[in-house]
Order: sequence, then structure tokens, then C-alpha cells
Amino acid sequence: MPKTILEVIDLKKHFAQPKGLFSFGERQRSIPAVDGASFYLKENETVGLVGESGCGKTTIGRTILRLEKPTSGRIIFDRKDITAASTDELRQLRGKMQMIFQDLDAALNPKMRIREILNEAITVHHEMTDAEVEKRIGELLDQVNLKKSKLSNFPHELSGGEKRRVGIARVLSVGAQFLVADEPTSALDVSIQAQVVNLLRDLQKQLGLSYLFISHDLRVVELMSHKVAVMYLGKIVEMGLSGRIAHKASHPYTHILWSSLVEKQSREAGSKARSVRVGRWGVFDFERPLEGCRFAPRCPVYESRGRPEVCINPATEPRLREIADGHQVACHFPL
Ligand SMILES: Nc1ncnc2c1ncn2[C@@H]1O[C@H](COP(=O)(O)OP(=O)(O)OP(=O)(O)O)[C@@H](O)[C@H]1O
Ligand code: SF4
Ligand SMILES: [Mg+2]
Repeated sequence: MPKTILEVIDLKKHFAQPKGLFSFGERQRSIPAVDGASFYLKENETVGLVGESGCGKTTIGRTILRLEKPTSGRIIFDRKDITAASTDELRQLRGKMQMIFQDLDAALNPKMRIREILNEAITVHHEMTDAEVEKRIGELLDQVNLKKSKLSNFPHELSGGEKRRVGIARVLSVGAQFLVADEPTSALDVSIQAQVVNLLRDLQKQLGLSYLFISHDLRVVELMSHKVAVMYLGKIVEMGLSGRIAHKASHPYTHILWSSLVEKQSREAGSKARSVRVGRWGVFDFERPLEGCRFAPRCPVYESRGRPEVCINPATEPRLREIADGHQVACHFPL
């Protein structure tokens, strides 16, 4: 039975909102980017994390890796509580957990050639002879299918797909077993996206990696992930096996999210779009509830049931509960 490599318990990351010019005398407000999220990840497994822009996906990834300090909650990695890990402990953790950043250029120093970038990453955690470094660089190039000739290039001389491969080689070079991949395919052409997804899947098989795979693209998430966690305004509202989340969603938000994909696919296939109720939402175009079910102002089930008090009462905020084997949902009236 695969062991649990990561457990996130009631994690919160609140940012202080910068004070506006005319906010004299007002209390400093905070942005609850991650607001009590819980989930777990098993070894050799991919959990896809989905949700619309601004719901807190990148923040939860960064906080798990301790690139951000958590406001509260717990992060257990490889059976150790790392919520308050010291600088020394964090340095060791960097050799085990890494992030593939959304921005293709984020981790690539523009003034360094690819050989130097990989050399630096390889030697930061391990002392090695020149010959050992050279051998390791060769292995990494093989693993990510990158030509040796690219080693003498600067990052700006590479294509998007090649930069992504170097980014992946860089995180592999330290020997990390758990990766947060933040929109790893977003800035790439569709054909290159498929190559990157296949590469990540092959590497998982070869090296036994575990991924938290963040993406807007539900098709890619379904393809890539064993399980999917759905995030809404800082909370995980549903989690389960990827096929079940995509085709038998229980949370009204998940259902609407995937219905919009079905609608898009029907449009692309030229058929008449199904008449599902899909909102055209902006994330912050409504008052953001801070208590009770955060989805209530947009929830069709809440409306159709006559706005039940239990949905918005702070004392009965819906919490994740198991409704089938490994399928959890935070809703009082699951579909
Ligand atoms: N350093 C920061 N300081 C203040 N607010 C922040 C900071 N980082 C993120 N936020 C806010 O936290 C919320 C969540 O942001 P986050 O980047 O995690 O969303 P996301 O789900 O990754 O969005 P996207 O899909 O667009 O990448 C947003 O309201 C964002 O403005
Ligand atoms: S708890 Fe109520 S408001 Fe929230 S998603 Fe479920 S039905 Fe909708
Ligand atoms: Mg993001």
C-alpha cells in the first residue's frame, strides 16, 4: 500500500492587504488566499489541483513547500511536521521537494548558460567531482529528452518547450521526490503541452515521483492525475479519483466547472452546446463571503432549495466528509 507522503491539515495563508490611499483609520484587511485547506497525497501519485483564477492554487503550493510562511494549520511531509521547519531543515527539504514554476523563466538565470544552471543545481546539495557532475548532466538530459548541444545556450535562446525541460531537469537534479508543478503546460503550444505531460508521466514511473499538479486545463488535469482536488476561495471543496470528479461530481461548483468544459468541447466539435447552467463569473465581482459556505452566492442548489440557513450559517460551515471510498465533498446537499 503506498504511503502518504504529504498531508495538509486546515492550512491557512492570509496576506495583509496593502493599505489604500484613503484607508486612513481603517483596520488592515487580510486576503484569505488559503483559508483552511485539507488534503493528502500518496507516494507515486498525482493530485491535480483545479479552480478558477485567484482561488489560491499557487499560494497553497508555495506554502506547502514553505516558500511562504503558513498563517496556521499543519503540513506533514514524509511523516515529519514541517509547518515550522527551521532554515537548516528547510535547506534539507529543498533536496526532497521542489516547485516547477508557472513562469518559464522564473527559475532560469538569464545570465547563465544551461550547463551552468544545471551544474549549480546539482552541486548545491551534493559535493561532486567534475566527472561526476558531467555524468549527472548527461543523465538529466536523457531523462528530459534535451539535446546536449543546448548546454551552451542561454535561456532566451531556447524555445518554451526546451525551457520547460531545463526547468524540470533542474528540479530533478537535486533528487526531489515531491514536485509542485504550477501550470507546467500553460505557456506552451498544444503539441508541446502533450510532450510535457508525457514527460512528467514517464518521469513519475521511472523515478517514483509524487506531484501536486496545478492547472486551469481540466482536460490536462484529468489525463495527468490519479486524484483531483477542487479549490474554491481558499478551500478544497471536493476531492476524489479523477474520473469520478470529472464525471460524477458531487459538489455543485465541481459540476459547473466540468460542465463548462463539456460545453466548450461540444462547441469545438461543432455540435449544439448542452444547455447546462454555466455562469460567466469574475472571481471578485461579488461580495466574497468569509463565513459559511463560500460558494452560496453563486450556488444553483442553494437558490433552488430556497436559500437554506444551514448553507450560510457560520456555525454549520460545510466541511469535507467522505461520501464514498476516497471521495470527499464539503456540501450540505451534494448532487
Ligand atoms: N504575495 C501576495 N500578497 C498579497 N496577496 C497575494 C499574494 N500572493 C497571492 N495573493 C492573493 O491571493 C489570492 C490567491 O492567489 P493565487 O496566486 O494563489 O491564485 P491562483 O489560484 O494561483 O490563480 P491563477 O490561476 O490566476 O494562477 C489572490 O487574491 C491573490 O491576489
Ligand atoms: S453547502 Fe449549500 S451553498 Fe454550499 S455548495 Fe452545498 S448547496 Fe451550495
Ligand atoms: Mg497560480
